[in-house]
Amino acid sequence: MRIILVGYGVVGQSLTYILSHSRLSNLKEYGFNPRVVAIVDRKGAAIDSKGLNLREVLRVKKEKGTVSVYPRGGKPGIGSLEVIETVEAEVLVETTPTNIENGEPGLSNIKTGFKSGKHVVTTNKGPLAIAFPALCELADYNKVNLRFSGTVGGGTPVLEFAKKCLLGDKINSIHGILNGTTNYILSEMEDKGLSFQQALDRAKQLGYAETDPSMDIDGIDPACKVVIMANWIMGKKITLKDVKFKGIRNIALETLSEATKRGKTVKLVGSIDGDCKVEPTELHRYDPLCVSGVLNAVKFVSEFAGEETIIGRGAGGKETASAILRDMLDIRHNLANKLLS
Ligand SMILES: NC(=O)c1ccc[n+]([C@@H]2O[C@H](COP(=O)([O-])OP(=O)(O)OC[C@H]3O[C@@H](n4cnc5c(N)ncnc54)[C@H](OP(=O)(O)O)[C@@H]3O)[C@@H](O)[C@H]2O)c1
Repeated sequence: MRIILVGYGVVGQSLTYILSHSRLSNLKEYGFNPRVVAIVDRKGAAIDSKGLNLREVLRVKKEKGTVSVYPRGGKPGIGSLEVIETVEAEVLVETTPTNIENGEPGLSNIKTGFKSGKHVVTTNKGPLAIAFPALCELADYNKVNLRFSGTVGGGTPVLEFAKKCLLGDKINSIHGILNGTTNYILSEMEDKGLSFQQALDRAKQLGYAETDPSMDIDGIDPACKVVIMANWIMGKKITLKDVKFKGIRNIALETLSEATKRGKTVKLVGSIDGDCKVEPTELHRYDPLCVSGVLNAVKFVSEFAGEETIIGRGAGGKETASAILRDMLDIRHNLANKLLS
């Protein structure tokens, strides 16, 4: 399987690390023989139709800051769209930064991938939050697969659990702790009595929160995940504008301590239960959703299986790269069975 990787930051580099790691030679047992033929970052690309030397490209990126100076195949200045259109490959892996204003550059990358007949695996929530129904239609029209397991739950197989393990059942509602950063902040406030600002500063020091943390603390990131789950699992054709969301920016320590006195705790919960929303919500402290720290948890209530909760790390380079691998194997499986969906 020939792969074009666009975006070579934390997730992209973790993917090439995993692919170049010898422990994973068992992937060949699945008939999966990945060959990365192009990697693109903001300054250009490294291209080799025979397959890039992934250890070498990783070393070049770390030492020089860009893949475009890769020896024998570095192309400074070339843009992602030109690479996607001109380089032959079966799969585009899209890992550029999330942009919820217009979805770019991910949205154009994904559309160009479809139009040039490539299956797409993305970890980028922006294009999906803005245009999920339209992107699915475009993928169908071009007879290619779109997969995005890493967008919800990082490496935790939240989407696959709902789609595959609960196959045949009817999922009536979904509730989830969908953002590790805000869960960490709320846990620190509750457990250690820190103010919101103190807990946020600590999250930044530990690398859990971005310099501009608004995607997380204003509830935008979990709202994007609600859009993805509502479309993919519940068949709702919605976009980000259909989700009501409220973050934790104004949450007071007193609100948390009052809840504690009543045996409850306050979590930022994303829900698809009639309407789609994200808001700080009181939960019983023994509710399985009440995970602490940076963990994510998602509870499905289905017609026959009842309540099922899946818990795991919601982010991280290697964790998210593992979701990309699963998606690529799924596409490989579909290709082998000619079951394009
Ligand atoms: N990190 C996680 O734990 C995690 C978990 C789940 C989902 N995600 C999502 O996965 C995506 C990637 O995350 P990340 O942490 O790897 O981000 P990152 O470290 O910021 O990397 C982004 C990469 O995209 C490249 N890029 C930006 N604009 C580009 C353009 N116009 N053309 C080509 N390349 C471009 C950057 O190039 P330069 O290297 O030249 O700057 C960089 O290599 C994001 O959408 C994120 O929300 C991340």
